[in-house]
Amino acid sequence: MNDKYILAIESSCDETSCAIVKNGSEDIATVISSQIDIHKNFGGVVPEVASRHHIKNITMVIEECLNKANMTMSDIDAIGVTYGPGLIGSLLVGVEAAKTLAWVYHKPLIPVNHIAGHIYANNLVKKMEYPLIALVVSGGHTELIYMDKEYSFKKLGSTLDDAVGECYDKVARVAGIPYPGGPVIDKMAQNGKDEYDLPLPLDDDSYNFSFSGLKSAVINLAHNCEQRNEELNKENLATSFQNVVVESITKKTMKALKDNNVKRLVVAGGVSANSGIRNALKELCEKENIDLTVPDLKYCTDNATMIGAAAYFAYKNGITSNLSLSADSGIDLV
Ligand code: KG4
Ligand code: ZN
Repeated sequence: MNDKYILAIESSCDETSCAIVKNGSEDIATVISSQIDIHKNFGGVVPEVASRHHIKNITMVIEECLNKANMTMSDIDAIGVTYGPGLIGSLLVGVEAAKTLAWVYHKPLIPVNHIAGHIYANNLVKKMEYPLIALVVSGGHTELIYMDKEYSFKKLGSTLDDAVGECYDKVARVAGIPYPGGPVIDKMAQNGKDEYDLPLPLDDDSYNFSFSGLKSAVINLAHNCEQRNEELNKENLATSFQNVVVESITKKTMKALKDNNVKRLVVAGGVSANSGIRNALKELCEKENIDLTVPDLKYCTDNATMIGAAAYFAYKNGITSNLSLSADSGIDLV
């Protein structure tokens, strides 16, 4: 294939983003307009507010991205877009923008699953090789995926209830930290002591996860402290909580690698920015001789660059869509 420049759009949650990516591996230009400051006031993402802001921002973000790359639409080979999973109103804005560009400029349209995007953020670090296991940890997902070849996904397990990022944000709320509190809990965890006894969730033979019980244990602990007029040491709580999360995630991930005899691990999603998870996996993978890839921090949270990377491989594998493409909020990656 000749060099391919894909213009990609991501709007599945609260980031409006456009990127131009060369050959699925090179970030030519990326623009991200984040709405975090707006949603902070509500303690979480408000879907209706998010879609309104996507509508307001999308054309400016696309234009800014082309300007940043010093390119016009004639330099673009195809349009990639996140069509799910995510918030339906938010997804619709990106999908309609992508369809409009594809139609007006006669470009192929490539539908990209948001999770595939997170996984392919790793191809921006180095060329992904197969077979591999992908650990996807974000605000909406906690999944272990087996990939035997390019753009082929088999789900091994996932969370039965809350996603790990969601759990981080709720624990942060208990500690009085504004949304999204995950990164703050991570920082606090690095300074505290493992003093609180929290249960290790779903310690079984499956590849599934569960975080709602852990979340409830933290909430109960906070209530009990309050009733007893005892002061809750938030840093120590963050450390104990993070240790349990790290143990749960690393245990299942290492098991998936071992059971499937796979020697490559890629990590993806907003929570892959977590220092506890990064350090623990680095140590374990070194010990087990497993090739570990983690995206740069800027590609861990939602961005269109990862969608452009995934779109290249989707396109290479014959995945395109006509203009009847619809957003699908609950679509599965498989
Ligand atoms: O992938 P992402 O941007 O959005 C989804 O697709 O869900 O992930 C956002 C999530 C939030 O829950 C945020 O608190 C969490 O990732 N997060 C972290 C860290 N950085 C972001 N959680 C724990 N530790 C971090 N360092
Ligand atoms: Zn995401």
